[in-house]
Amino acid sequence: MRIALGSDHAGLDLKNLLAAHLQNKGHDLKDLGTHAPDSVDYPDFGEAVGRLVAAGDADFGVCCCGTGIGISIAANKIRGVRAAVVHDVTTAHLAREHNDANVICFGSRVIGTLVAIEALEAFLSATFAGERHAQRIAKIHRLEEAQ
Ligand code: RB5
Repeated sequence: MRIALGSDHAGLDLKNLLAAHLQNKGHDLKDLGTHAPDSVDYPDFGEAVGRLVAAGDADFGVCCCGTGIGISIAANKIRGVRAAVVHDVTTAHLAREHNDANVICFGSRVIGTLVAIEALEAFLSATFAGERHAQRIAKIHRLEEAQ
């Protein structure tokens, strides 16, 4: 899969760890930064990941910040992005199955690294369930169109 990654300084170590895991699995990665521990602003990286996913140049995005919240809010401002903060395997696979999420977000200060890896795997291997969930995603599209 083509996967875009982004983080702020707080999410840097987790982003690098997830990138190494995905690389080992043979995915095609675009690491959009940050690449150094200096303080940066999470919206810049949520936007960069979101734009790549929304443009169809990445199948999925992976975002990390301290809580996962700020970077998910930023990514969700890009039309076509459905970014989900996940905390475990259950929220990760349901984000795909029910919400057709295309960006997964982690809080490096609130999740263990093994849980994050397992959640990421659950997210990537799950599929959108469609049916009643599709009409809800269609409503989200309509909200975007009405902006
Ligand atoms: C950075 O200190 C922190 O605010 C950021 O990583 C994130 O948790 C925001 O949602």
